[in-house]
Amino acid sequence: MSHGSAIHKEEKVWAAVVAAMVAVFLAALAYAAWVTGLQVPGSDVELVNPKTVLQELKPGVREVAPGRYEVTLVGRMFSWIPAEITLKDPVEVKFRLTSIDVIHGFQIVGTNVNVMVFPGYVAEITWRVPQNYEGRYLMVCNEYCGIGHQNMYGAINIVRTK
Ligand code: CUA
Repeated sequence: MSHGSAIHKEEKVWAAVVAAMVAVFLAALAYAAWVTGLQVPGSDVELVNPKTVLQELKPGVREVAPGRYEVTLVGRMFSWIPAEITLKDPVEVKFRLTSIDVIHGFQIVGTNVNVMVFPGYVAEITWRVPQNYEGRYLMVCNEYCGIGHQNMYGAINIVRTK
């Protein structure tokens, strides 16, 4: 019995384990994509005309249920419209984002909210707001969009009443 053949057998076992893991990951990915309808954040969900988007989308905050908000923001060189929003006891916020000129990047600093914003498309991203936080979040543009890019920021005020 040679030492070499024992190693060969172990290699086969581990190769089978790795192949099984890859199969499981691919199956999970396929399940997420086709069964639950998972989309990459910022997937284009709606087409809009950048020229009329301010009238069509009515930027601002809507409370759709207690603690659940829908926030529509429009990017424009070099600000978010509206530039400051206040949310009372938010649990979940659905952002709808678009641009009327060039590509911007919407990011809420210190969170996992980060999505590219294209003219002509509405990007959606949902934010589960940390329940222990009260105060101010900074929202910035993280995609270079021109000479005033660094001035393109705004604020999200989180107010807790309970
Ligand atoms: Cu908008 Cu950078």
